[in-house]
Amino acid sequence: MNKQLRKTVIAGNWKMNKTPEQAKALINEMKPLVANADCDVVLCVPFIDIPAAVEAAKGSNIKIGAENVHFKASGAYTGEIAADMLKEAGVEYVVIGHSERRTYFGETDQTVNLRSLAALNAGLKAIICVGETLEQRELGYTETLLKYQTKMALTNVTKEQLANVIIAYEPVWAIGTGVTATAEQADEGNGFVRAAIAEAYGADVAETVTVQYGGSMNAGNADELLAKANVDGGLIGGASLKAADFAKIVEAASK
Ligand code: 13P
Repeated sequence: MNKQLRKTVIAGNWKMNKTPEQAKALINEMKPLVANADCDVVLCVPFIDIPAAVEAAKGSNIKIGAENVHFKASGAYTGEIAADMLKEAGVEYVVIGHSERRTYFGETDQTVNLRSLAALNAGLKAIICVGETLEQRELGYTETLLKYQTKMALTNVTKEQLANVIIAYEPVWAIGTGVTATAEQADEGNGFVRAAIAEAYGADVAETVTVQYGGSMNAGNADELLAKANVDGGLIGGASLKAADFAKIVEAASK
């Protein structure tokens, strides 16, 4: 296990929070606080905030991401956003298959795969989310499920494209609940994801893929989580809406 082989990435997922004006203000507050980061810093924001966020982040080390992307290039898909629209707007990353999308918006392993392919084919970096529910964990399905979700999401993704893939292990029971996975649980879950990548692409390739942990990561627990061998960063919800808290997580990842 060699963490030097992969990038540490701290990404905020703002979910459905912040207007464009609020986005600008928050990014301006964050910029000086994360300027010395020794990791990649990304903020995934609502579609409508993207122009303001890209403008505010200009000249800084903050990269902007979206929270979803459609799998078709264009057409009659009311309410959806295509990958080249995001690219042209200055977006570099996109979150795909978040458990909230799977739970509330009918996202399936198949649509997660199609969205991932669309993002990667357009040259975007895909942050693909996987994770088990509490019930699945208690039934002992965590490893099977994480491996299945990871492999399904990566169907037809080439070895070369894997360089633009980040997998975020987000146990559903830890999202927005204040219940964080223990560092051991996070490391184990991320290890299952890496093992699935190794099974599909080989161990050497798997060693180079960034696997984040997400789920109630905050300024207080980031150090312990990020110290784990398999935890190459975080996907941060609530704590990414507060500049000081997010900066502390970035600082922990920069050690
Ligand atoms: P919280 O950090 O608010 O638990 O959210 C995690 C998450 O869902 C990030 O995508």
